[in-house]
Amino acid sequence: MKRTSILFVVFLTTFSLFSQTEFELIELPYAIDALEPVISKSTIELHHGKHLKGYVNNLNKLVKGTDLQDKPLYFIVKNSQGAIFNNAGQTLNHNLYFTQFQKPSENNTLDTNTSLYKEIIKTWGSFDKFKEEYNKAATGLFGSGWVWLSKNENGSLVITQQANGSNPVVNGLTPLLGIDVWEHAYYLDYQNRRADHINAFWKIINWKKINERYVE
Ligand SMILES: [Fe+2]
Repeated sequence: MKRTSILFVVFLTTFSLFSQTEFELIELPYAIDALEPVISKSTIELHHGKHLKGYVNNLNKLVKGTDLQDKPLYFIVKNSQGAIFNNAGQTLNHNLYFTQFQKPSENNTLDTNTSLYKEIIKTWGSFDKFKEEYNKAATGLFGSGWVWLSKNENGSLVITQQANGSNPVVNGLTPLLGIDVWEHAYYLDYQNRRADHINAFWKIINWKKINERYVE
């Protein structure tokens, strides 16, 4: 083999080694205790540092050497089944979840001038009615799963219940605001009182971020 050919093979091998990107555990955009008392530091340590880290590590192991390796996370969730789907779905769910919060505020609410607020009023009549419907879906979801406020392609809004690790992208929706009702999300702080956790959840929503997801 000519020297130039050898160099080319070495280049390709090196390039392919370094081009294999792996999913990484997202960084929290706030201090680990910033959401207290709504979500405790202990819950965040466990939920982000153990549960999400586990999903990300599993996903990397499962997609290695498959056609889904190096594909975007949304693509994998929409085009997989079984263990890959469960771990990709949970990685996507938690990436969106942990980046939608800010420190608690009693008067936390969505700016009435935003496109998202106007669409919520158009859909549910009032912001309180929207929250009521979201809470109902979250308290009523049997077992483990998620409730999401999502956007349709035409900009209209919908609240869906997703079982286990599923995400609204499988139904062609864009997820905006999600609540994790797996017990690992609230049991340390609220034990079996899921409804109390759901009521407190509204104090930590970063509505600016949720509106950004809506207008993107
Ligand atoms: Fe979770």
